[in-house]
Amino acid sequence: MRVNVTVNGEQRQADDVWEGESLLYVLRERLGLPGSKNACEQGECGSCTVYLDGVPVCSCLVAAGQAQDREVRTVEGLAEGDALDPVQEAFVEAGAVQCGFCTPGLVVAAHDLVNRVPQPSDPEIREALAGNLCRCTGYEKILDAVKLAAQKKSAR
Ligand code: FES
Ligand code: FES
Repeated sequence: MRVNVTVNGEQRQADDVWEGESLLYVLRERLGLPGSKNACEQGECGSCTVYLDGVPVCSCLVAAGQAQDREVRTVEGLAEGDALDPVQEAFVEAGAVQCGFCTPGLVVAAHDLVNRVPQPSDPEIREALAGNLCRCTGYEKILDAVKLAAQKKSAR
């Protein structure tokens, strides 16, 4: 089947999508957007998090057909030209990236949080990121990054 979807503001089309193919697969393998990662492919780790109509979802759990005529925003769509989003900057500056496999999903989840809650508390950050697993950092630097991202956003 053919899937038409708006991705990062551009109308995109994927052909020969098989029933049951995930949005994650279409993004990575058909549309050339490998930012979203496929770690568990069963909704457990959050590394595939993207916005679907403005709501963060695990794209491995979304059938590509469900994205028909909808809007997807991936980690690649957060920067404005060469300027990183404040959340992306904060992850770099806080040293919240080690292997980086979890990072795209965490960045999207954190981006959603700081847009909804300008100054999130530690429990709010932990709650918002509870579906995103990281095997490397121990999460402390990730917490620091989200707090720094909130500061950066409020300063803009
Ligand atoms: S790859 Fe989607 S939740 Fe892990
Ligand atoms: S930085 Fe390696 S899994 Fe998070």
